[in-house]
Amino acid sequence: MDRDTQPSIDFEDFSFDAFDEARDPRAETTGFDRVVEAAISRRGLLGVLAFGSGAAAMGAGVTTLGSLLSSTSAQAAASRFAFTAVPIATDATVHVPEGYSWKALARWGDPLFSNAVAFDHATGGDAATADRVFGENTDGMEFFVVGERQVIAVNHEYVNPKLNLPNNDGGKVASAEDVAKLQKLQGVTVMEVAEGDDGWKIVVDSPLNRRITHLTEMRLSGPAAGHDLLKTKADPTGTASLGTFNNCGAGKTPWGTYLTCEENFNGYFGSTDAAFALPQDYKRYGIAAESVYGYEKFDPRFDVSKNLNEPHRAGYVVEIDPSDPASTPVKRTALGRFKHENAEVVVTREGRVVVYLGDDERGEFLYRFVSAGLYAPGADTSKLLDEGTLHVARFNEDGTGQWLALTPETTGMPAPEIAIFTRMAASKVGATTMDRPEWVAVNPVSVEAYCALTNNKNRGVKPNAGGDETPVGGPNPRENNRYGQIVRWYPENENHADDAFTWDLFVMAGNPTVHSDAYAGSANINEGNLFNSPDGMAFDTTGLLWIQTDGEDDNEGDFAGNGNNQMLAGDPVTGRIERFLTGPFGSEITGLCWSADLRTMFVGIQHPRSPFPDGEGTLGRSTLIAIKRDDNTPVG
Ligand code: FEO
Ligand code: CA
Ligand code: CA
Repeated sequence: MDRDTQPSIDFEDFSFDAFDEARDPRAETTGFDRVVEAAISRRGLLGVLAFGSGAAAMGAGVTTLGSLLSSTSAQAAASRFAFTAVPIATDATVHVPEGYSWKALARWGDPLFSNAVAFDHATGGDAATADRVFGENTDGMEFFVVGERQVIAVNHEYVNPKLNLPNNDGGKVASAEDVAKLQKLQGVTVMEVAEGDDGWKIVVDSPLNRRITHLTEMRLSGPAAGHDLLKTKADPTGTASLGTFNNCGAGKTPWGTYLTCEENFNGYFGSTDAAFALPQDYKRYGIAAESVYGYEKFDPRFDVSKNLNEPHRAGYVVEIDPSDPASTPVKRTALGRFKHENAEVVVTREGRVVVYLGDDERGEFLYRFVSAGLYAPGADTSKLLDEGTLHVARFNEDGTGQWLALTPETTGMPAPEIAIFTRMAASKVGATTMDRPEWVAVNPVSVEAYCALTNNKNRGVKPNAGGDETPVGGPNPRENNRYGQIVRWYPENENHADDAFTWDLFVMAGNPTVHSDAYAGSANINEGNLFNSPDGMAFDTTGLLWIQTDGEDDNEGDFAGNGNNQMLAGDPVTGRIERFLTGPFGSEITGLCWSADLRTMFVGIQHPRSPFPDGEGTLGRSTLIAIKRDDNTPVG
């Protein structure tokens, strides 16, 4: 369907990922039996599901579809979880296991500075001081210790205009002031936090408190910096830009900086000239004449008919120093331009900085950056994320895989264009189209990495926006994949910088109470731990994988028994998965970090479509919560 003829979309009812999905409507559902038959016949073996650590488990772990779906070994394994799983929920609050409790730490609109106007449910908060409060739609975050102070840096992915501008018709922007309010509510918060008798609180007026928004000055670095494609009238050097957009997942470097990842940046740009011919490269990135919020009507920077290169300055990983509120954030173009989910950093024994990066779009790719230089504590780190090689993953059917370098030699593209048009570069080398790569998490106690492949209605149905086919198989084994899976890889030679790896599937989400085929999910899915659309992920220090969901929460049909979105813990060794937390109705659970003493786990509750956390008759407010054990021992 042409986007211009689509019925208007009610943004309030969607996460931003879901909005992007809705703009590209679901294909006709194929007959279910045919789907499964096709999956089996194309692959022979539907998937590999190896429980055990390291490549040694791989060979023995190859299983047929039958054993994949019927094995009970995972359920029989001993539990490493220090909690009793919680049941699903469909109500409007957060539930955690017995012996744990949670408290709100920061809600959209809570002041970071005493001169910010306190939140008002009637107005959706004050416009003028919208960049002095905790922003909207909390997402990826990291915890830092800066001298004696404790700091959380946290993303604000997008806005829900019907909530932010409740007195505007349909939440539509009607003035430059409305646009500025939305621009200020997004980006990043850096805030000092402290734990007192009543739990964790924002340290209002801390010198480290800072809001980074769509209007904050940034620097562009790496191979694309200064290129003609990044130059604008406001910045003829192509090295300075304003703002960071759709900040989704996050990352943390060993040198104490925060990485914020620009995801669905395309939605901020539009054209006031309906006849304006959009360049071909816009199509691959989903940039269209119609924007999500209408910024272009009041802020010409977002009008592509007037500023053709402005979108080329978004879609990057941005490095922020949380210890210096006067520092200029840096857009690291060497890490590529795409719909970045998170940036998972690991340092190899040799000292290479490896960054794993997912591109969350149906049929797009999974990436890895390897630094040219070596990290050493205390040494200069300013070039480590500027100089190096970006790679893209190819997964083979036999459980092996390669990281394919994106260089002028392999792609025929100059280095700056690889950094700006990364998707096109990756298409040229034969990378594997994936089922929407969300967060990557690296296990701290075993040399392995995991990526949540959240779902993909287009798998086996239609190619990606670059025309790359999306065959059923490998780590994407189900046509019209509505449940999602988590792929895991083991780097060759136990070295994350090695170009070879082996892989398997840690879990295929599904629903065995509704289906008896591949859509039932893998053996470690059962009636007690149903979930769909894995998204946020992080390991704790003990090597347990925490999995957050951004899925269907209608609790009906294919999703019966899933309840609201949730967070689960997975044991990489046994494959066992248990539910730890359920969110309020209509929320996504996203963002996860721990206090330095590990006694508090911080979790993000994004876009509740229920009156959370302030109760009946109030606006749902995205909220960062702090979870503790009642005996104050480490969580996870
Ligand atoms: Fe913002 Fe793909 O999640
Ligand atoms: Ca996500
Ligand atoms: Ca998602």
